[in-house]
Amino acid sequence: MIRRLVSDDGAELTALLVANRERLRPLEPDRPDEFYTVEFQRERLGNQQDGRWLFGIVEGEELAGTIGVNNTIRGPLQSANIGYWVDEPRRRRGLASAAVAGVVDFAFGEAGLHRVEAGTLPDNLASQRVLEKNGFERIGVARRYLLIGGDWRDHVLFQRVADV
Ligand SMILES: CC(C)(COP(=O)(O)OP(=O)(O)OC[C@H]1O[C@@H](n2cnc3c(N)ncnc32)[C@H](O)[C@@H]1OP(=O)(O)O)[C@@H](O)C(=O)NCCC(=O)NCCS
Repeated sequence: MIRRLVSDDGAELTALLVANRERLRPLEPDRPDEFYTVEFQRERLGNQQDGRWLFGIVEGEELAGTIGVNNTIRGPLQSANIGYWVDEPRRRRGLASAAVAGVVDFAFGEAGLHRVEAGTLPDNLASQRVLEKNGFERIGVARRYLLIGGDWRDHVLFQRVADV
């Protein structure tokens, strides 16, 4: 259900990002226009390093969304954030739920992390359901947590820790 993205996926990813741009705008930090170009995405995918990984959510042979592991902190925290989205016409087919399961396996396995965190807007019930189905626990509301569209928006934070 998920696979590591490489620079050759840049064109397919850009097309999917452009198709979902307006819909995702109220949910994500602002992106510059160049983010929606093949050149930018090829570069982004080619420059992944330890602590920052982007996976494609795939349906059959096709890219259906992405799930990323970001903001990795090593040392005694061993923690990272995840963020994900699914192409609008392919929602409610279990893709995000399967992708979160896959990325949690990666995080606690290959990446050697202890904790995975995710934040959702308070009214994003679909995303909260995806996390709860994957064994994430609700931490609480972090006020004015993330800058989206010029406003610091409250988020409900969730975590899952390894071996629980
Ligand atoms: C959130 C999102 C990733 C879910 O993707 P998805 O592939 O449709 O999720 P799934 O098919 O795995 O569904 C997960 C659960 O959410 C439920 N769900 C879906 N839409 C819902 C909604 N609008 N309200 C309540 N529950 C909803 C599903 O019924 C399912 O629960 P169930 O298995 O108990 O029936 C997708 O809606 C999306 O891309 N949203 C925009 C981006 C976003 O919000 N990303 C997360 C940022 S934190």
